[in-house]
Amino acid sequence: MCGIFGFVSKEKINATPVIIDGLKRLEYRGYDSAGLALMTGRGIFCRKKAGRIFELEKVVGNNIESNIGIGQSRWATHGKPSDKNAHPHFSCDKKIYLVHNGIIENFKELRVKLEKRGHVFRSDTDTEVAAHLIEDFSKSYSFEEAVRLALKSIVGTYAFVIVNADNPTTMIVARNSSPLLVGLSDTHKFVASDASAILPHTRKVVYLHDGEFAILTPSDFRIATLDRKAVSRDQELIEWSQDEVKKNKFPHFMLKEIYEEPDAVENAIRGRLIVKDGLAKLGGLELVEDKIKRLNRVIISACGTAYLAGLTGEYMLEEYGEIPVEVEYASELRYKKQKFDARTALLSISQSGETADTLGALKEAKRKGALNLGLVNVVGSSIAREVDAGVYNHAGPEIGVASTKAFVSQLAVLSLLALFIGRQRDMSLVIGRRIASELSVLPDKMKRVLKEAPNIKKIARKYHKYDHFLYLGRKYNYPVALEGALKLKEVSYIHAEGYGAGEMKHGPIAMIDKNFPSMVIIPSDSMREKVLSNIQEIKARDGKVVAIATEGNKEISKIADDVIYIPKTLEMLTPMLSVMPLHLFAYYVGVMRGYDVDHPRNLAKAVSVE
Ligand code: AGP
Ligand code: GLU
Repeated sequence: MCGIFGFVSKEKINATPVIIDGLKRLEYRGYDSAGLALMTGRGIFCRKKAGRIFELEKVVGNNIESNIGIGQSRWATHGKPSDKNAHPHFSCDKKIYLVHNGIIENFKELRVKLEKRGHVFRSDTDTEVAAHLIEDFSKSYSFEEAVRLALKSIVGTYAFVIVNADNPTTMIVARNSSPLLVGLSDTHKFVASDASAILPHTRKVVYLHDGEFAILTPSDFRIATLDRKAVSRDQELIEWSQDEVKKNKFPHFMLKEIYEEPDAVENAIRGRLIVKDGLAKLGGLELVEDKIKRLNRVIISACGTAYLAGLTGEYMLEEYGEIPVEVEYASELRYKKQKFDARTALLSISQSGETADTLGALKEAKRKGALNLGLVNVVGSSIAREVDAGVYNHAGPEIGVASTKAFVSQLAVLSLLALFIGRQRDMSLVIGRRIASELSVLPDKMKRVLKEAPNIKKIARKYHKYDHFLYLGRKYNYPVALEGALKLKEVSYIHAEGYGAGEMKHGPIAMIDKNFPSMVIIPSDSMREKVLSNIQEIKARDGKVVAIATEGNKEISKIADDVIYIPKTLEMLTPMLSVMPLHLFAYYVGVMRGYDVDHPRNLAKAVSVE
């Protein structure tokens, strides 16, 4: 969902490659057009193009000296993807240029007012009103004050980066519910949507909070609120390594991140398990431990894959945390009438920590007095800063648009949470030890699943031309079936549906024939016999079946057309094993169908607009 990158340097540099490189590092966020603007001695050089960043590279050349530059990769919300609607947008006098991530909700009324004052618009976007608004205020106020007044007139979400030819060494940045952070080195200041574009230059970052704006010059950096209160904010260090934001030996980020899934679980549980006492140690929750003990309900709020992790967490928390759980799509929760009180916890799950719907639902719950907890991967992200307390995944950057390692990391943290809450309540030491012990060895078992990759690739080749797929699972593996179907949809564009296996006979079985294969998760757990019946029902109708089964289950290979084996573990931990073949299967099918699995069409990595 849109990428913003900019820099201010003490000396003039060859600016184009710096901006282009920054935008390329943000490509994974999803976009449809891109552009840049550079301050030169002769005014502002600006180019913008629909399409991929290499289209923009063709028209910008490679030797423009500048000390200040901005760029944006756009994910269109208002106005089709086109050259004219690409960012940066600029004022009538072509002195003020800006890029934007978010939505200006009152842009129509602002545009009418500005057109009446003689402003001429060149695009169909909401963003352009901001450039004309600042220009209008600039007639009576300084650049900084004009920006501040314009921001106060805007209703909506934004991350803005703004330059002005009349102030050739000043960049003003501002944020409200869209991600933006500032990187500081000895010679430069950088601004970007996330750390992956800043990491090559510096690890020192400062996070802007909502409602703040900052003034960057070669020698100065200061933050203020829209009410002109100065803000002092400590620098933080990006914890990622450069290596983590590169594909290295892998052909795609998606495959690399699937192979990182054992490490993602390892990193999620590291230092958080006390096996001998059967306890989970979650430092981020210690301040609210007593409030958690008094909870009588947990509402999980998330989107997409994070929502499906939440569905799995519902089974864990209800069975082992002994607390009622509801799981809601954040996009629904934020608009429905929902009772929250001090004994309700809203648990927001988000890899990026920037998903607009999840952030919106969280702010709504906060207004109603809920205890707001977060399960987030990106440190310092909006959701991470908005909650009362939370747990970071420490999964490292997830660059592939299709979420993979974040999903298993979320499940690992949810397992810890079930242990944490369960041992506050009636869970015995014996059960606590059993969960903690099995969780501690799970990453090794996950590595064994990766050894199945050649078999999974062979099965993917057998099924990659089918146009439909049914995914089935029960209890803990019902959400995994949904996740497997979502992954296949996202990266191969095949119509895949996930269902509770027991639900198949209530409708979906009508679709089954030799052209409609099924992926069925059938671990040797409490539901095995039931799921076996479902497989037999499919086979009786000439449906093909790929089974995800527990090692040692020889019977299944006589019934299913193909089998992928996973190691035995506790029922509640099985999803972290059973999902891996589904991630690999989706990856291989997507690649075999010739698609760019790291940048699926129409999708964005962080949906930071509604
Ligand atoms: C999952 O593969 C998708 N990329 C998408 O559904 C994603 O899970 C969803 O947008 C939520 O993102 P978040 O975890 O960053 O909030
Ligand atoms: N709403 C703006 C537009 O459509 C910005 C979209 C984005 O965040 O990329 O141009």
